[in-house]
Amino acid sequence: MVGGTRSVPVLITGCSSGIGRAAAISLHAAGLTVYATARQVDALAGLARQGIHTLALDVTDEASTMEAVTAVEEAAGPVGVLVNNAGYGLYGPVEQLPMDEIRRQFETNFFGLVRLTQLVLPGMRRRGRGRILNVSSMGGRITLPGGAFYHASKYAVEALSDALRMEVAQFGIDVVLIEPGPVKTPWNDVAAASLSTATPTGAGGGPGDGSPGDSDSGPGGSAADGDPYATYKAAVGASFPRPRLRLYDAPPVRAPSLTIDGPSPGLYRLERGGGNRSRTISLGSC
Ligand SMILES: NC(=O)c1ccc[n+]([C@@H]2O[C@H](COP(=O)([O-])OP(=O)(O)OC[C@H]3O[C@@H](n4cnc5c(N)ncnc54)[C@H](OP(=O)(O)O)[C@@H]3O)[C@@H](O)[C@H]2O)c1
Repeated sequence: MVGGTRSVPVLITGCSSGIGRAAAISLHAAGLTVYATARQVDALAGLARQGIHTLALDVTDEASTMEAVTAVEEAAGPVGVLVNNAGYGLYGPVEQLPMDEIRRQFETNFFGLVRLTQLVLPGMRRRGRGRILNVSSMGGRITLPGGAFYHASKYAVEALSDALRMEVAQFGIDVVLIEPGPVKTPWNDVAAASLSTATPTGAGGGPGDGSPGDSDSGPGGSAADGDPYATYKAAVGASFPRPRLRLYDAPPVRAPSLTIDGPSPGLYRLERGGGNRSRTISLGSC
């Protein structure tokens, strides 16, 4: 089948790479009318060549979200399916991440999703049906070292989705949570790079900022080395290897339990619950 044989429009965020891009291609191949979006519309040229509709959409930009939803509605009617996929991982110690980075994490992973949901719901109610798919993560159920704000944003997506599902079922609208485990996409690179935004003075400093002369070094390191979280961050950074699993062949991951063996690189381990097998898993791959 080719895109467009089923005319109800599907709007997907974050299609420049990874899961969003794969979803756009797959749903188009299944005959749906797909509107793939990304911050940089140039990044969607390959999808456009396949006949997929493309639009610019930055989920943190109010005007951009409104323009995208309006464009779809004018061209194809109310959005039938919204896939809230755009997101990334911000990693680093709570104490050290700058507030503007923390806000950006929530603006992208949570508030952008909320706003798009608000914008498509009136059309879905008018049609008397619709489906909203929120891409959370297995990290919306468990928390791993270094990912306080990524996990918090995904936990927020989970709570919102569960409440919203109860609110809109009466209108024939379904809310679906997608909770992927590790998938080989650029996500890992973005998460690993975000660690560099965590610096001893990154959050604006303070009495325990690790600056020379600071005697409040705490158990995580010494003031002399300038960064009391140096060892912890090295461990988190070392936990971002490339996942061995590729998109499409990742097996389902059962709810895991986390074992922390120590603050050394590579010693954080996820164990599958209920079994005697354990496998090392990238902390950043959720
Ligand atoms: N990969 C995994 O292991 C994994 C596991 C569980 C959950 N997830 C979740 O799956 C979703 C997709 O991730 P992925 O693995 O496919 O990673 P990805 O390839 O890095 O894709 C992330 C997408 O989000 C987009 N994005 C970021 N900020 C945006 C913004 N402000 N407005 C619009 N788009 C924005 C990126 O666009 P740009 O190119 O413009 O940055 C990119 O298209 C995310 O929500 C992620 O948390 C991933």
